[in-house]
Amino acid sequence: MMKIKVTVNGLEYERDVAEHRTLLHFIRDDLGLSGTKEGCGMGECGACTVFLNGKVVNACLVLAAEADGASIETIEGQAGSFGLSDIQKAFEKNHAVQCGFCTPGMVMSVKELLRHNGKPTPEAIKEAIEGNFCRCTGYTQIIEAVLDLTGQGDLKGELKHV
Ligand code: FES
Ligand code: FES
Repeated sequence: MMKIKVTVNGLEYERDVAEHRTLLHFIRDDLGLSGTKEGCGMGECGACTVFLNGKVVNACLVLAAEADGASIETIEGQAGSFGLSDIQKAFEKNHAVQCGFCTPGMVMSVKELLRHNGKPTPEAIKEAIEGNFCRCTGYTQIIEAVLDLTGQGDLKGELKHV
């Protein structure tokens, strides 16, 4: 066991963790922040996407011990005192959430995209979420949500299924 200290969504936590504990299990089970999902557990599905020191990572591929001293952002940190984030609102408005299992990871990947590209093309959006699997939506509504959010709603009708 080792003691780690992290900041998650602006709050500090200090916990004992086993050396082999993943950041995903640490976030979900030790901190009780179950918004971050466990899909494959192998870095394939993106359900566990979080920000670690400002970089998007698959939390299932990072050890909690590696995050000692880090700043982490999860889906729980996205909504503010005025409600859902703009990305979350756009997902809701465009029916981009069905079962919702992929949604936390999708929102984090879209946030990363929009940090670097305020007007992403449909291709750029597809590329940004290619590591996030969705079994429900066919992805179209997710891409539409991002287009809508970035003032490109006129492109929505031109989308082909991906
Ligand atoms: Fe981490 Fe699938 S649970 S990528
Ligand atoms: Fe169900 Fe994406 S909404 S997996």
